[in-house]
Amino acid sequence: METKVFRPGPDRDDIAAAAEIIRSGGLLGIPTETVYGLGADALNEAAVARIFQAKGRPQDNPLILHVPSVSWLERYCRDVPPSAYALAERFWPGPLTMILPRRENVPLRTTGGLDTVGVRCPDHPLTLAIIEAAGVPVAAPSGNLSGRPSPTTAAHMLQDMDGRIDAIVDGGPCRVGVESTIIDLTVSPPRLLRPGGLPLEELRQVLGDIAVDGAVTHRMDEGEHPRAPGMKYRHYAPHAPVTAVVGGAGRSAAYIQARLGQKDGVICFDEYAGLFAGHVVHTLGPAADRRAQAQHVFDALRTFDETDVPHIYAQCPDDAGLGLAVGNRLKKAAGFHVVDAGPLVIGLTGPTGAGKTSALLALERLGGCVLDCDAIYHRLLQTDAVLRGELTAAFGEVFNEDGLDRQRLGKLVFSDPAAMERLNRIVFRHMSVAVRERLDTASESVVGVDAINLFESGLDAMCRRTVGLLAPVEDRVRRIMARDDISEEYARLRIAAQKDDDFYRTHCTDILVNDVASAEEFEERAYAFFSVLIKKCKEESDQ
Ligand code: TXA
Ligand code: MG
Repeated sequence: METKVFRPGPDRDDIAAAAEIIRSGGLLGIPTETVYGLGADALNEAAVARIFQAKGRPQDNPLILHVPSVSWLERYCRDVPPSAYALAERFWPGPLTMILPRRENVPLRTTGGLDTVGVRCPDHPLTLAIIEAAGVPVAAPSGNLSGRPSPTTAAHMLQDMDGRIDAIVDGGPCRVGVESTIIDLTVSPPRLLRPGGLPLEELRQVLGDIAVDGAVTHRMDEGEHPRAPGMKYRHYAPHAPVTAVVGGAGRSAAYIQARLGQKDGVICFDEYAGLFAGHVVHTLGPAADRRAQAQHVFDALRTFDETDVPHIYAQCPDDAGLGLAVGNRLKKAAGFHVVDAGPLVIGLTGPTGAGKTSALLALERLGGCVLDCDAIYHRLLQTDAVLRGELTAAFGEVFNEDGLDRQRLGKLVFSDPAAMERLNRIVFRHMSVAVRERLDTASESVVGVDAINLFESGLDAMCRRTVGLLAPVEDRVRRIMARDDISEEYARLRIAAQKDDDFYRTHCTDILVNDVASAEEFEERAYAFFSVLIKKCKEESDQ
């Protein structure tokens, strides 16, 4: 088949022709703000079957429906919750896909047999016009051959799809460069299935609590099932094997420089390109510019296939903002072969009385150092003039000669959620900077980040794994009564005010349960647990 290329100008004939391809069951390459898509009529089973065939895509991997506006949502989804409308209002058209219960008019072939369906409204005027004109939702996976990097220009899509599709609409290079963020709204709390062009932090501003699916952060173990079927496949991979290097820009650059073979290629931040003269180098953009990195990550991976480098080393940003999506694509391209040029960072969290002290002792016995975030916070309150200034500007004279007047600040924030939110935002920002600095200079190979607010603070973005320490409530009551010398009633009150086990089970990558009789016994259990976890992370790195 000959693949036509449309370059729609101001006259809209091409739009009508493109819409006609969709309506008649054909395959059309469409530009979106994220990546190019391989579109067909989502309600036409034969057309949808052609998508799977053209891509070489496994049948169980569902497709996303593209709609021109939120008003189409109820046509294809049931039980649409208010949160979906809140998200659409704020982020559509844009790089956000919502998973919702499927209506029966959406063929199972489109949803890979699932009872849910992913829907998004892409932010590209040509594609919006084409879908409107076609009058049907357009199912569109990324326009690459299955397993290859997603295309961000029409030329890249043609490399994979020339001769396999009826036409492609050239709408210029994609503005965002990574695929949409996928959020599952059929579970509570909502679950991030794929990080993408819309940062998790922005979603949290609307939805509050969000869990992150394990497939986002690490390779799935045997028996683990990602909730987005597509996340289980090796992906985005150029032909040469990739090693993704995390752990701070300066360190990852030095790590790569020390190991780079003569013919190996590099994907790096702009600032470090000079270190790799004589090698095939593709730059991602400045180390601090995650938007630029998102725009370039797939092009960098794809362009390597025009060379014969035997191995590719890639510098990864950390998980803040768009870094979560950029790092995820690089790590997936590496089959989660991730090397930590910095220390292995393990976040530790959980409710009081679960036995954290023993767990930390075990981690230290294994050579790890522990960053106590509570202590860091108290030190910052003493030493960080900017933090003190910001708190004073926000809450008035909350410092006296002895330091922070806790009672005064407490009175202001405990009964006022908006004030609490303001306080947290200020504190968490300063905490992140302090912890990042500490990690950048750590000499230990394993660092535990001990933070009661690990997720709320965003510190989890710096951790390779996050461990939730849990214990039966009755044990915790006993422990905190003895430890803090308080009444049973007060101990129960404190426990009731904390997050429940489900929170940790849905947020942490790993759970460690303390249901043994003594602290010594638990320390041994924690020792064994951390030994295995550290070994596993090191193995992922060494493969
Ligand atoms: O930005 C994007 O989302 C691009 C452009 C073209 O819109 N599309 C895209 O589609 O990335 P695709 O098929 O390459 O990736 C869709 C992902 C897959 O991992 C799939 O498993 C997941 O979304 N997905 C789709 N429907 C789902 C559902 N009902 N439940 C869970 N995951 C779903
Ligand atoms: Mg894809």
